[in-house]
Amino acid sequence: MLNPLAVNFCIEPLEKRHNRAVFKCGNEKLDRYFQATVTQDQSRNIAIPYVTFDLERQKIIGYYTLSMTSISIGELPNSIAKKLPKYPLIGVTLIGRLAVDINYKGYGWGKLLLMDALYKSFEASKQVGSFAVIVDAIDERAVSFYQRFEFQPFPDQPYKLFRTMKNIAQTFA
Ligand SMILES: CC(C)(COP(=O)(O)OP(=O)(O)OC[C@H]1O[C@@H](n2cnc3c(N)ncnc32)[C@H](O)[C@@H]1OP(=O)(O)O)[C@@H](O)C(=O)NCCC(=O)NCCS
Repeated sequence: MLNPLAVNFCIEPLEKRHNRAVFKCGNEKLDRYFQATVTQDQSRNIAIPYVTFDLERQKIIGYYTLSMTSISIGELPNSIAKKLPKYPLIGVTLIGRLAVDINYKGYGWGKLLLMDALYKSFEASKQVGSFAVIVDAIDERAVSFYQRFEFQPFPDQPYKLFRTMKNIAQTFA
């Protein structure tokens, strides 16, 4: 079984020794990004990529990227926006991409990657303010994956979702 209870793994920043060439998540865009672009984003400090790595098989199980970005308060639901100061932009953390290799799908790795991304985002927000974690879902299935973990879509932007840092903090309290 390739579930997290049966695999010797670690989660660490992407390095050269991780073989990206054989990684396939089933979504061409996410595979192409991981094979062709991710290291450029990494070297330019645009995104930090993390991998879950199967130590026995020397395989990448999944990856995600984290960056800082901002949203305008007007993008948020009114019920939340009305409680915030009227700054034009507020800082948030972006999970730019998140994907699990097809050989490891359905065993809980997606959840583990997401929880790790949320935990890192939460820890970082103690040093650099961040109102929420946001994601750009690649398709409908990705939207429902994130909704399963308490993300909610921005009004009028069904593929862009957020979860407030306050809410995330409760998960790790
Ligand atoms: C979406 C993805 C990351 C899920 O990874 P996974 O390892 O198969 O998911 P897990 O086994 O960790 O599933 C965790 C939970 O999410 C649920 N889930 C998984 N995919 C789901 C989906 N598309 N919609 C709703 N729920 C989903 C599982 O049923 C499971 O629920 P449970 O905790 O109640 O049992 C993976 O399928 C993937 O890489 N897809 C292609 C890329 C992609 O869509 N990335 C999303 C970000 S753009």
